Amino acid sequence: MVEPTKKVWMDGKLVDWKDANVHIMTHALHYGIGAFEGIRCYKLSNGKSAIFRLKRHVRRLFDGLKILMLDPVYTQEEIMAACVETVRANGLDECYVRPIMYMGDGEMGLSARNKTRTAIPVWKWGAYLGNGAVENGIRARVSSFNRYHVNVGMVQGKIVGQYVTSVLAKREVLLAGYDEAVMLDTAGYVAECSGENIFAIRDGIIYTPPINSPILPGVTRDAVVTLARELDMDLREEKFTRDFLYLCDEVFLTGTAAEITPVREVDDRKIGAGKPGPITQRLQKAFFDVVRGNDERHARWLTPV
Ligand SMILES: Cc1ncc(COP(=O)(O)O)c(C=O)c1O
Repeated sequence: MVEPTKKVWMDGKLVDWKDANVHIMTHALHYGIGAFEGIRCYKLSNGKSAIFRLKRHVRRLFDGLKILMLDPVYTQEEIMAACVETVRANGLDECYVRPIMYMGDGEMGLSARNKTRTAIPVWKWGAYLGNGAVENGIRARVSSFNRYHVNVGMVQGKIVGQYVTSVLAKREVLLAGYDEAVMLDTAGYVAECSGENIFAIRDGIIYTPPINSPILPGVTRDAVVTLARELDMDLREEKFTRDFLYLCDEVFLTGTAAEITPVREVDDRKIGAGKPGPITQRLQKAFFDVVRGNDERHARWLTPV
């Protein structure tokens, strides 16, 4: 259960958590027309707090609106300021920040062009894939549900209605006793997971599906690509198959919620030694150094609260 926090930013003002409601005629509730973000605010090692890559997340939120032809009521700068204001108003030193912009009520039906509504709830969200997942790794299974064909889903956006397939894939693998679903594209190549991007390592080379495949352009993915190249690692944005995953020495997932989570098993095949490998661990250290404010080179990725 999400533990209620104090205030939610709704259409320009902070309201009490219990009053942050929408009308049943909200268009997005029926048709999924909306875009959202998942962002983390971290407690830094100096005791202050900062939001990780806020600008990049808000840009992707607006990319979603553009794809959907939803007119924003606020600017990107205003939404960034509202995220900071909401975290502050709730007095949390670490939390998950979820801006969402969606078509409100008014007209019904597919041709409606109702006003865009905006909300920003924040709450405490610990290890998304379970306690110990980031440290010990998880068990993944390839889902029977595919990622969208690029002319079916608008994959560059984090679009509300598109999460139906992710939910189905996640449920399918949880019911079968696994932790996360690997999703293939409609040509059969590995795309991403239900809520994370995927990286696979063989013989010291790191592979991740390219950005023109049907994957969400993950902000954590981008950070890991940047950090790996700074560490002189050989990282290639290339397609790969599910059986290539079985043969890898290391596999890990990236996402705001999941951070960098190692995968120790795919489809009941042990990955490498069945525990987080050395390249994954180096990247985890580099990533957590950045988000905790211990790497000056990426201080610009942190927005103080
Ligand atoms: C389908 C999907 N892929 C990848 C990601 C990872 O993206 P990010 O690192 O920006 O959180 C997410 C989470 O937002 C997601 O929902």
